[in-house]
Amino acid sequence: MNMQDKAPIILGIESSCDETAAAMLTRGPDGEPVVLSSIIASQDEEHRPFGGVVPEIAARAHVKKIDHVIDQAIRASGKSYGDIDAVAATSGPGLIGGVISGLLSAKGLSMSLGKPLIAVNHLEGHALSPRLAAPCAFPYLLLLVSGGHTQLLAVRGLGQYERLGSTVDDAAGEAFDKTAKVMALGFPGGPAVERLAVKGDPKAVKLPRPFAKTDHANFSFAGLKTAVARAFDASDKSDKAKADIAASFQMAVCDVLADRTANAMKLFTANTDGNSPHRFVVAGGVAANKAIRKSLETLCAKNGFTLTAPPMKFCTDNAAMIALAGLEHYIRGSFAELDVAARPRWPLDSAAAAANPASGFGKRGPKS
Ligand code: KG4
Ligand code: ZN
Repeated sequence: MNMQDKAPIILGIESSCDETAAAMLTRGPDGEPVVLSSIIASQDEEHRPFGGVVPEIAARAHVKKIDHVIDQAIRASGKSYGDIDAVAATSGPGLIGGVISGLLSAKGLSMSLGKPLIAVNHLEGHALSPRLAAPCAFPYLLLLVSGGHTQLLAVRGLGQYERLGSTVDDAAGEAFDKTAKVMALGFPGGPAVERLAVKGDPKAVKLPRPFAKTDHANFSFAGLKTAVARAFDASDKSDKAKADIAASFQMAVCDVLADRTANAMKLFTANTDGNSPHRFVVAGGVAANKAIRKSLETLCAKNGFTLTAPPMKFCTDNAAMIALAGLEHYIRGSFAELDVAARPRWPLDSAAAAANPASGFGKRGPKS
């Protein structure tokens, strides 16, 4: 049978960080993606006592939850195991124990159902995620800002991803989580810092803006994280001091994201046909932050870009985006062998990452 004859049904599996997720997806009459179900089991409870994601705990939690989450996603879609045409799983980049657990489940299902396996790059899932909710024509500039990633990518078409910038150390979400941990605000840190920031003065504490006034689009958050810890140590640790630090930190992140995105907008437009509309998409957990959204909206208005922020359920880690990337690979007949390896590192733009690694080039290759 020609694979394009019937709308294929793809099971997607995601387990690269701290969400265990599965989704069923197909395509509609005009080729648009149709999400049949999307189940996400969060591990917040498991990681809360540590104020951050603990890889070993994450891997064990995935192993415990994954079969049930897959089963739930299939039931919620109104389909059965026999209806699945292909199994797509995140194969990297991410915390290796988690990636292995999702990929192994996918391999087992692929083998027992006799259906192809598709190895998906988690970052490709994020890159395509705006298309889950509404049409979003290529090309667009994407800011992916989460607990695991901070990247600016020109998404020019399927398989055409150009890295314009990436963090050289921590992700922005990690800096939010660390700021919350230092001041014992709870986990995940982002929402706690945002709630407290409303009560503080964003100009009260002087914090660095790493890479300000440069013309590249890379990020660095390690210095900001340390500066926050120092500011808290030096403060009287009152509620007022905490609110001022939260507000000043959030303002620093807003400034850094807007400054580097402005540089990426120049790089993006320089290589884009002048007649094509300028689209900017922000995705990832940190995109939930209202102050950050507002500063990106202002930046877009100033630079003639239209801003799209997918609904939060597709912004944060989910398996629908993995199933969507899987669908695109399925249509192209791009399948994986059963011995495909899980990859802790897997840059989307491998040429740029190899030529100019943003965050180190260890024995396992460039990170981003
Ligand atoms: O995309 P996500 O759910 O998971 C990955 O890391 O891939 O992002 C989680 C991150 C956490 O670091 C969390 O603190 C941050 O997103 N976050 C926020 C907010 N909500 C979640 N950061 C700032 N403000 C928020 N409202
Ligand atoms: Zn992610």
